[in-house]
Amino acid sequence: MTFEIKKIGIIGAGQMGNGIAHVCAAADYEVVLSDVSEDRVRSGLATITGNMARMVARGKLSDEARKTALDRIKPSVGLARLADCDLVIESAVEKEDIKRKILVDLCAVLGPRAMIATNTSSISITRLAAVTDRPERFMGIHFMNPVPLMELVELVRGIATGEETFEASKAFVRRLGKTYSVAEDFPAFIVNRILLPMINEAVYTLYEGVGTVEAIDNAMRLGANHPMGPLQLADFIGLDTCLSIMQVLHDGLADSKYRPCPLLVKYVEAGWLGRKTQRGFYDYRGEKPVPTR
Ligand SMILES: NC(=O)c1ccc[n+]([C@@H]2O[C@H](COP(=O)([O-])OP(=O)(O)OC[C@H]3O[C@@H](n4cnc5c(N)ncnc54)[C@H](O)[C@@H]3O)[C@@H](O)[C@H]2O)c1
Repeated sequence: MTFEIKKIGIIGAGQMGNGIAHVCAAADYEVVLSDVSEDRVRSGLATITGNMARMVARGKLSDEARKTALDRIKPSVGLARLADCDLVIESAVEKEDIKRKILVDLCAVLGPRAMIATNTSSISITRLAAVTDRPERFMGIHFMNPVPLMELVELVRGIATGEETFEASKAFVRRLGKTYSVAEDFPAFIVNRILLPMINEAVYTLYEGVGTVEAIDNAMRLGANHPMGPLQLADFIGLDTCLSIMQVLHDGLADSKYRPCPLLVKYVEAGWLGRKTQRGFYDYRGEKPVPTR
């Protein structure tokens, strides 16, 4: 028998957290969506509302199903409303110190049988599990962006993750209608171990003047048949998240090939984080994206 999950808490209502809330509600789970402020939670709910409305307009969701799914998502500022969840998925910013604090605070309020998962893109599951009171009930459940559209979820066990937790995670991913790949707990797992060095190399290509933003993106779209260019993709992921992942790879594998490009660092220092701040390698404030270099 696998552990039954009925109610899911999500910490972080940003681009990933609201996407996870969307797919969980659409799969008939009760959902609590939490963030640090009312504004952040409201903005996450507004994104879900807009995305579901678009799905209705395209005939991919009935209006009835949209209403029911939205009703299943309850907002929460802070962690108190997560106490009776069966599974809590942490999807706050990609900063280990912030995630550690969230997990410690969460364990203080969460029922003892509940599972905890993290949507981290790169940080050690084993290390995050070790700050909780339940490393055997802790998993990496790594969704892809945008969550409602992307089929893959990476499942990552920490060294102490128990079989029941692993099985329940597989059943959860299946119920969402998604497919999982199992990755071992090494920095950035599978997808980002391969994807982020390519994106970082694209930023070096820009930094060294080998090509412009448009030349690089067109080259990889039309020459390597990628659906979007690497710099456009970086803006989509969030440049702060890209930088954090490169830092985890660089620190965790101690290989200079993972050195974050200084230009990526500069964009993050400027607060140009990509689509979520309206500016990154492209400026999104006008009618169509304009390259910033
Ligand atoms: N962006 C991607 O493509 C992508 C893909 C897969 C996984 N991830 C991972 O998902 C996580 C979230 O990334 P995102 O792209 O949604 O970032 P985001 O910047 O869009 O959202 C992060 C959210 O976390 C909230 N937050 C910050 N501190 C918090 C705290 N102490 N408690 C609760 N909430 C807090 C912020 O207010 C914000 O709403 C990261 O771990 C990231 O690595 C990102």
